[in-house]
Parts: sequence; structure tokens; C-alpha cells
Amino acid sequence: MRALTNTRVFRSVFRHGFPSSNRNRSLVVFSSFFLHFHPVKVRLRAIRFTRTFYLGGLCVACFFILTVSGIFLMFYYRPAVPHAYHDMKDLVFVVSSGTFLRNLHRFTAHMMVALALLHMAWTFLRGAYRPPREFNWVIGVGLLVVTVLLSYTGYLLPWDQLAYWAVTVGTNLVAATPLVGQKIKLLLLGGHAINDNALLRFYVLHCVVLPMVLVLGIGLHVWRVRKDGGIHLPPEVRTLAPGATEAMATTSKEAAQ
Ligand code: HEM
Repeated sequence: MRALTNTRVFRSVFRHGFPSSNRNRSLVVFSSFFLHFHPVKVRLRAIRFTRTFYLGGLCVACFFILTVSGIFLMFYYRPAVPHAYHDMKDLVFVVSSGTFLRNLHRFTAHMMVALALLHMAWTFLRGAYRPPREFNWVIGVGLLVVTVLLSYTGYLLPWDQLAYWAVTVGTNLVAATPLVGQKIKLLLLGGHAINDNALLRFYVLHCVVLPMVLVLGIGLHVWRVRKDGGIHLPPEVRTLAPGATEAMATTSKEAAQ
């Protein structure tokens, strides 16, 4: 092991030794692209399961599964009217584990919407929307809207009757917006009918634009949780002197125990 960790190549990637001391743990967190999002230390009482039910984290996990399964689906799907429906049928009846892949993507999408709503409700009930977290609440509302839009734009892609009429109803609802409604509908459909143009637009929105917005939004949202002093704690817990009833835990070792 030492022979590996002492090599120049290993040292050029991992700048610090094994996180076995407090100092090394801090250095590992500070110097890691992925971990620097996370505080070096968290209190045990802040990561108690019932504090958040990990609902925000579960939303992130759903988004990760959706991204990976979505990339696999892109290998089998062509966003054009002559192909879209048949590609979905091929996926289910011809492609090995295609039904599993399609259902994984579909059900995870339903779950993400449900989890985001539950996360919002629990955040509200805990009063975590109050200052200084009101801006993060607004970012959260934006994330919920983008999550719903992702579900909606994905709905048209199979190009079946359900998809076609759902998008007809949805875009007609948008058209009812005063002043700008008709313009937004034209922009969404790329014309006055639901055809190839609409399919391509919904595809690009679903696979590129909205996921990018969500990645940026989630990054900002989680960063704000950290900048706002971590998870919101009830006043009676917050006023306890640090260490009065609970020990501090580092993010790595003790927190997992
Ligand atoms: C894509 C959807 C979302 C993702 C991925 C997400 C992710 C997260 C994560 C990981 C946390 C920290 C841990 C936790 O509370 O579980 C968090 C906290 C928070 N979220 Fe979300 N969230 C989403 C949607 C929302 C929505 C819809 C709202 C409300 C409108 C919201 C408001 C908040 C607030 C205020 C906090 C801070 C809670 C506190 O300090 O205790 N989020 N979110």
C-alpha cells in the first residue's frame, strides 16, 4: 500500500495522506473538488435522520439515476416523428433489459417529483424557509419548477397518443397566458402544430437545457445550505452549548458511526 501511496503519480493526484488525523481530514476536504462542498465538521444533531429524512439528498440521488439511465436511453432513441414511437417499442420488445431501463427512468422521474414535494413540505414544517434561508427557499421553488418541466418535456418523447394529447393540453394552457401566451406556445412547438419541430425542441430541452439548469441550481442550493450555517436546527437545540449533550463529529469517520 505504502509503495503505491508514495509514488509520484499518486502524490500528484492525492495531495494529502490518509484522513486519520483531524488536520489531514481538513486538508483532504479542502483540496478535493467533490468534498469541498461539504463542511469539514458537522454536528451529530444536524445529521440526525429525522432532521431532514435525507429528502434533499434523495432528490440528488434520483437526479443521478435519471442522468445515467437517460444517457443509456439516448443510444436507442431518435427524436424524429418516423422513428420515435418505433424506437420506444424496440426498446421494450427488442433491446435486452430495455423495459427495465425505460421503467427505471420513468419511475425515478415520478419519485423525484414526489420527493421534491415532500422535501419542500418538510422544509416548510421545520420553518427552515425563515431568514437567513429565504433565498434558498426561492432557489428550491425554481428547482421544483425545473423538475416538473423535465417530467413534462420527457412526456412527449415516446410520441404515443398519451404524449401527443398531454402536450396539446399543456401547450394550450400556456397559450392562455395573457399577452405572451401565444408567443411562448409558438416558441415551444416551433410552429402551429405538434410535429417534428416540437419533438426536437422538447428533446433538446429535456436532454440538454433543463438538466444543465438543474445541475447549476442544485450546486447553488447545496452551497447555500452550507453558507447559511448548515441545516436549520430548532431553537432549543441551537442554543445548547456545543458539546453540552453531544460530541462534535467529523464528516468522515465518527459521523458514519
Ligand atoms: C431538485 C429538487 C431539490 C433538490 C435536489 C434539493 C436538495 C437539497 C439538499 C441536498 C438539501 C440539504 C439536506 C436536506 O435538507 O435534505 C436541501 C436543503 C434545503 N432545501 Fe432543497 N432541494 C430541492 C428542492 C427544494 C424545494 C422544492 C424547496 C422549497 C421550495 C427546497 C428548499 C430547501 C431549503 C430551504 C433547504 C435548507 C433546509 C435547512 O437548512 O434545514 N428545496 N435541499
